[in-house]
Amino acid sequence: MLIDLSGRTALVTGSTQGIGAAIATGLARAGARVGVNGRSEERVERAMAAIRAEVADAELVPVVADVADEKGARRAAEALPRVDVLVNNLGIFGEADPLTISDDEWRRYFEVNVLAAVRLIRQYLPGMTERGWGRVQNIASDSAVVTPAEMIHYGMSKTALLAVTRGFAKQAAGTG
Ligand SMILES: NC(=O)c1ccc[n+]([C@@H]2O[C@H](COP(=O)([O-])OP(=O)(O)OC[C@H]3O[C@@H](n4cnc5c(N)ncnc54)[C@H](OP(=O)(O)O)[C@@H]3O)[C@@H](O)[C@H]2O)c1
Repeated sequence: MLIDLSGRTALVTGSTQGIGAAIATGLARAGARVGVNGRSEERVERAMAAIRAEVADAELVPVVADVADEKGARRAAEALPRVDVLVNNLGIFGEADPLTISDDEWRRYFEVNVLAAVRLIRQYLPGMTERGWGRVQNIASDSAVVTPAEMIHYGMSKTALLAVTRGFAKQAAGTG
């Protein structure tokens, strides 16, 4: 399958390693200019070097920001004011006893796994709609559907992310 994203700009949150790094590499291979995101300059630079080792002519933009909060989202907007392909990949996970996990942990999972994505959609979707072309991908998990007993807090956040995805898909339907 030939996917040509030349002329498009993508942002992949949490792309210094793992699934996000693989997605960023794939988008760069498809010709997109890609914003590589992580919280430290060192890790972002290292991730960009790894992508360039695979895609020699990759056009990459460092987006050093903790996009889990408002300040980080603003920093991302400064680095990449225009985004055509937003991949909300950032997500945290870990096991916790569902009977003793704290309210703060529940909130943290919601903030990082759900609200961060909503905030970036709010930031970039209007521009996509105005230009008549855009893509938003939210990386959920099978845990959204099959809630693990040892990660109810994680499952909850990913189920919520599915709701966000379906809702915005309706909201943006027909806009390109
Ligand atoms: N791994 C799995 O088996 C699996 C299965 C299903 C779904 N998923 C989902 O897939 C996504 C990626 O998972 P993964 O396993 O590839 O993740 P990972 O290896 O833990 O990588 C997380 C990435 O997020 C970055 N990050 C963490 N907090 C951040 C923040 N506040 N702001 C910006 N970047 C941040 C990290 O970069 P720095 O540390 O450099 O900041 C890193 O690049 C997640 O949404 C996860 O829920 C994963």
